[in-house]
Amino acid sequence: MTLKTQAEKKYLRDWLRRLPPRWLFRLFAWFGFKPAPMKALIDASAFMLPQWMYTAIKLDIPELLLQRPRSARELAEELSLSADRLVRLLYALEQHGYFKRVGRRKTNHDGNQLDGVWEHTALSAVLSEKHPNTIRAIVLHWIEDCYAPSGTLLHAIKADGCAFRLHHEGQFKGFFEDYLSTFPEQSRQFSNAMSATSAFTDEAVLRDFPWSRYEHVIDVGGSNGSFLELLLERCPKMKGTIFDLEEVIVGARTVWSEKPSQLASRVTLEAGSFFDVNTIPKLPESSAFVLRNILHDWSDDECLSILSNLRQAMPSEKSTLVLIELGLGFDANGHVLEQARSTIDMLMMTMFDGRERTRTHFENLFKQTGFELKSITSTRSVAHVIEATPI
Ligand SMILES: C[S@@+](CC[C@H](N)C(=O)[O-])C[C@H]1O[C@@H](n2cnc3c(N)ncnc32)[C@H](O)[C@@H]1O
Repeated sequence: MTLKTQAEKKYLRDWLRRLPPRWLFRLFAWFGFKPAPMKALIDASAFMLPQWMYTAIKLDIPELLLQRPRSARELAEELSLSADRLVRLLYALEQHGYFKRVGRRKTNHDGNQLDGVWEHTALSAVLSEKHPNTIRAIVLHWIEDCYAPSGTLLHAIKADGCAFRLHHEGQFKGFFEDYLSTFPEQSRQFSNAMSATSAFTDEAVLRDFPWSRYEHVIDVGGSNGSFLELLLERCPKMKGTIFDLEEVIVGARTVWSEKPSQLASRVTLEAGSFFDVNTIPKLPESSAFVLRNILHDWSDDECLSILSNLRQAMPSEKSTLVLIELGLGFDANGHVLEQARSTIDMLMMTMFDGRERTRTHFENLFKQTGFELKSITSTRSVAHVIEATPI
């Protein structure tokens, strides 16, 4: 819509001043109808919600409420916090479906804020690290590593640069290059965040693609191996290698020392860099290099270098390159999957100068690095599986 005349602008301004009858206003409010300026205002205020979630997580509230429901006063005493501030935080989260207060006396609007006990909802439960589909580590990573660089987006877009690097004023070459090695705790947390993303795509990726055709899978940038673990459980004859940076493999060794030996004995862990061809493990015949959520972290030039190096480590033409990427575009504006894809695309742009790519992007990258696109398989999730073979 374009606003051409002063009259049109005045019409829209007056729109907010023309109040509907009370009953209609209540009906609209009940069904969540929002006029455009109101929706835009609410969208703009959304920058705060993840900070509330983060604060609740850091205060251990999801873990405490998992043990048993508690009143705000009890929580405040345990955490040595002001009960008033705490209950306002919980109340704000409750409006978005996180936590709920039960047993509150309904007196009037001034009813005691500290009444009742707080317990989990299905939404708040996933903030606990004990939930099987926990997103705790993802929230911590987004707020601690990505939130501040996102504030540099305007500068980055104007300067045609990477927001993460600009935010840190050149202190770090990149998130993976030297930021994570400088902060081992962030590195461990990032690996946990990557495992947590599993819940959203792994089952679909494993069931909607014929993995059992590979004898050995090298999970390039495999983090602590959460995907490989599920893959090997599903394909009992398959062997696997996790290949990642030294500091990540150190953490992965600890994780795998606690796995059942019949599974762990089929896994090798190799440290190195996909930018250094000499450190990449050689791929056996009838096997695959799998790159799950890797290429979207890198610029086109960096992807060309990664793919060329992998091509050199693929001696057999019977071997395959398999990419798992978060989406190739659904051509459906506003679709929930397209919203997810474009959100991750912006995150990649902000943090790494990476991007979510289309089929044409991949074909171009493959053409320049000795591969041919063989198939793209959509799955019952936002992820696609892309197969390319050496030419
Ligand atoms: C976005 S994470 C994806 C992790 C995992 N594949 C997954 O989907 O959960 C990117 C991974 O690439 C690894 N990585 C980054 N730079 C690397 C390099 N030069 N060589 C090998 N792995 C690297 C990171 O350590 C991290 O584990």
